[in-house]
Amino acid sequence: MNALIISGSRDLEGRTAQAMAALAEGLEAEGATCDTVFLPAVDLERCRQCDDDGWGECRAEGSCVIEDDFARLVAAIRAADMVAFATPVYYGDLSESIRAFLDRLRRICTHENGEHGIVGTPAVGICVAGGGGGGGPKCAVSLEGVLQTIGFDVADMVPARRQNLDLKLDVLRVTGRWLAQVADETDAQ
Ligand SMILES: Cc1cc2nc3c(=O)[nH]c(=O)nc-3n(C[C@H](O)[C@H](O)[C@H](O)COP(=O)(O)O)c2cc1C
Repeated sequence: MNALIISGSRDLEGRTAQAMAALAEGLEAEGATCDTVFLPAVDLERCRQCDDDGWGECRAEGSCVIEDDFARLVAAIRAADMVAFATPVYYGDLSESIRAFLDRLRRICTHENGEHGIVGTPAVGICVAGGGGGGGPKCAVSLEGVLQTIGFDVADMVPARRQNLDLKLDVLRVTGRWLAQVADETDAQ
């Protein structure tokens, strides 16, 4: 099983990164391989809302005109058996980098050409509130909504706050193991 873990945090050792590492630990304990991407380090523009009506090539063809790392990331998602999206909680919502990416992914995937290989792919969302600790559940609702619109099979959402992070890291290790086991069982059928 190949898992892809996409982060909306720029801190390679921050709380969101710790959450990603815990999920990867569980996945790898069951034989999965994990790749990680930190979106703030990737060349990724926001949607240009190309046409006067707000649509563009995404609506007509299910692809995006912007020449940056978006297409490469979409190909990596299509190649993965499951995808995790981890974001730090900003203002009770997604970070800017993960929002920009998911805004564009949603557009191409609501066209049949863009949904190829993504619809039905298991996904997990992780939202880490590392300040006061508020906003994790609200962020999780926001993230789950966009992942469902894209077509992912949202297997779980894990909100965490600074005050319960250690507990949630344990939850994420178990979640990773479970995801890998379910994938193995599905392959065996
Ligand atoms: C713009 C901004 C908004 C934030 N909003 C919240 C918030 O609503 N709730 C919270 O608990 N922490 C908030 N924080 C703190 C982040 O969630 C915290 O820095 C997070 O743990 C960063 O994780 P990282 O180290 O993995 O990037 C905010 C931080 C920033 C920069």
